[in-house]
Amino acid sequence: MPNAPHLDDIDPFAPTRRAITEPDPVHAALRAAGPLVQVNAPAGGPAWIVTDEALARVVLADRRIAKDPAFAPPGWDRHTAGLEQTAAEQPSLTTLDGPEHADLRRAHAPLLNAKRIREQSDRIHAIARTLLTELAADGTNVDLMAGFTTRYPLTVLLDLLGIPLDHVDQAADACRQMFSAEPGERGRAIAALSELAASGLGDGSQGLAAELRDRAPVGTTRDQLQYHLFALIFAGQLTTDAALGILIARTLVDGPHRSRVDEGETGELVRETLRLYPPAPFSLWRFTTTEIALAGTCLPARAPVLVDIQGINTDPARSPGPDLAFGAGPHFCIGAQLAQLELRAVTTVLRTDFPDARLAVPFTELQQISIGGLQGSRLTTLPVTLRG
Ligand code: HEM
Repeated sequence: MPNAPHLDDIDPFAPTRRAITEPDPVHAALRAAGPLVQVNAPAGGPAWIVTDEALARVVLADRRIAKDPAFAPPGWDRHTAGLEQTAAEQPSLTTLDGPEHADLRRAHAPLLNAKRIREQSDRIHAIARTLLTELAADGTNVDLMAGFTTRYPLTVLLDLLGIPLDHVDQAADACRQMFSAEPGERGRAIAALSELAASGLGDGSQGLAAELRDRAPVGTTRDQLQYHLFALIFAGQLTTDAALGILIARTLVDGPHRSRVDEGETGELVRETLRLYPPAPFSLWRFTTTEIALAGTCLPARAPVLVDIQGINTDPARSPGPDLAFGAGPHFCIGAQLAQLELRAVTTVLRTDFPDARLAVPFTELQQISIGGLQGSRLTTLPVTLRG
């Protein structure tokens, strides 16, 4: 059986910095090499990247390709690879598969489905309005990457979960600490966020944290529950934070906006932004549990596999239709409805409440950076004049 091409000269996991208008050449190069390509993994040895959409959808639904880091290559260092503990050590949506994963999804799903999230619409718009109004009072030009894009999704999440909002700063610090090169720091950040989540679990708590406790599969321990809450906070902040910067820049690219807000156009702007600048440029790691043939290549058991979400979403030959920004299959993003509402709310609030808002630097001067690994890009700064 032939082997997938091995791209020795391309490192898809290197940190990057480029203008907002500049496409990432790595994804085009991976796509050009074939539907399945082999690269050098950051934790050593080969990794396989899927660049074809049809194959990606098959891989994301294939039960023989697992999320559980227990199937990672034996030599991989968990911290270098950015892996969670194994499902046996720390069961979670992102480490479990099969029936146990389905049980945990069933516990989460009603909390974050379209209807429940729609019911939060006024509240989410109000949070965006309040935070932007506070920032507008701070001065003429404000950097929304520093003052808004982290704070807003965290405030929404804590509010939804029933965690007191005076914990937002602590949560922001812990989210930043998650990217420390020192493994101990990352552990402390997980502990801090899990501890913070516990404050949504007190007697009489009304938020989604308490609801998840009541719906969690039988036998879920308090530690496990707190880890599930940590995962929602961290996954929900990281991605939405990155998406917000790009979305706001694209919302304001044409200067002040004084026409009527068109909901359909706002939804399209959000979808298009997520397609072109997916905050998760790659899926999370998956591992073959047995020998598997993919696109004519035989992968051994314990082979690490990724889906190139960004490369697939930005393929010029791709037909319009649902993209992979939120993944696909059983691990499809559980927060997709919430994220999209948060993003639409910001564009709407900027257009209705801040009709004079504009970028304080030319759009083309905005820079995006990625710290590498599987992380997406985030604007370095986003100077905006909100009023006047
Ligand atoms: C624009 C924002 C977001 C993007 C682009 C995004 C993207 C993704 C993607 C691509 C996956 C699938 C990963 C894979 O299969 O390997 C995923 C899963 C997940 N996301 Fe999101 N996400 C976003 C917002 C959120 C929010 C707001 C939350 C929390 C409320 C959240 C929580 C999760 C969780 C818990 C999973 C794991 C689901 C599972 O494995 O069953 N995400 N997300």
